[in-house]
Amino acid sequence: MSIASLGYVGFEVSDAGAWKIFMEDFLGLMRGAEDNEQVSYRMDERAARVFLLHGNRDDVALVGLETPTAASFEALKASLAAKGVSFTQGDEDLKAKRHVADLIRLKDPAGLDVEIYYGPTELTNRPFNSPAGVSSFCTGEQGAGHVVLASEDIDAVRAFYVDALGFRLSDTIGMKLAPDFSITLEFYHCNPRHHTLALAGMPAPKRLHHFMVEMASLDDVGFALDRMAACGIRQRTTLGKHTNDQMVSFYAETPSGFEVEVGCAGVPVHDETWRVTHHEAASMWGHKPVGA
Ligand SMILES: [Fe+2]
Repeated sequence: MSIASLGYVGFEVSDAGAWKIFMEDFLGLMRGAEDNEQVSYRMDERAARVFLLHGNRDDVALVGLETPTAASFEALKASLAAKGVSFTQGDEDLKAKRHVADLIRLKDPAGLDVEIYYGPTELTNRPFNSPAGVSSFCTGEQGAGHVVLASEDIDAVRAFYVDALGFRLSDTIGMKLAPDFSITLEFYHCNPRHHTLALAGMPAPKRLHHFMVEMASLDDVGFALDRMAACGIRQRTTLGKHTNDQMVSFYAETPSGFEVEVGCAGVPVHDETWRVTHHEAASMWGHKPVGA
């Protein structure tokens, strides 16, 4: 059994006030349930797609990986146990906080909390309404978006996501970061989203390089570009188009220092016809650093 999608992501953040502006006024996510530990944000009919956890790490704190049914959840648990991957059962309090029917917790080889669940709550009785007027976010079977994680021991991390959880390679990009330093970025899918997970084999101050949210149209991305300046948020790259998933996007700096990519028009991957390729650049055009 494999993971079906990235259902939600959690960030531990220190500046709740700045994040409120970032999430609501800039990205246009809808504030959901909150308590003294966390604030939930909605992107669609789901009760939560992003959790902001109060704390000082200012980095990704957890990823929530979805299985479609109770049977597939149990099958994945059995598969993990057979592979010797240990996990713990989530308690009733955690299930309620994450708005899911059942979940287990484990850590990836670099220490990130991974939650695997089924049965997310949908609030179709309280329709998603973007506070910034985003027409809609592309979620559904493609999940919440994608995360790009830096890992020193990429072999162990790759083995965890590919061998234990069933992620599949989409393609690779060779990146020359300095005259004498190159890395290969690896892009993995678990549904038609070109990549739900990308891995960079390098040390980095934060585990998360960026989280991507996909909006329904180029106009949505353009309006977000305008709101970024109005909200006083630092732009990290110009608008550009990626070579591999063909996403048209720009990058903004979150109040925690990592980045969010706001994009549209990513190309889907279909396993029956997909061919793994290599790219020698991350972008066809644009994505130039701003203020670096
Ligand atoms: Fe990205």
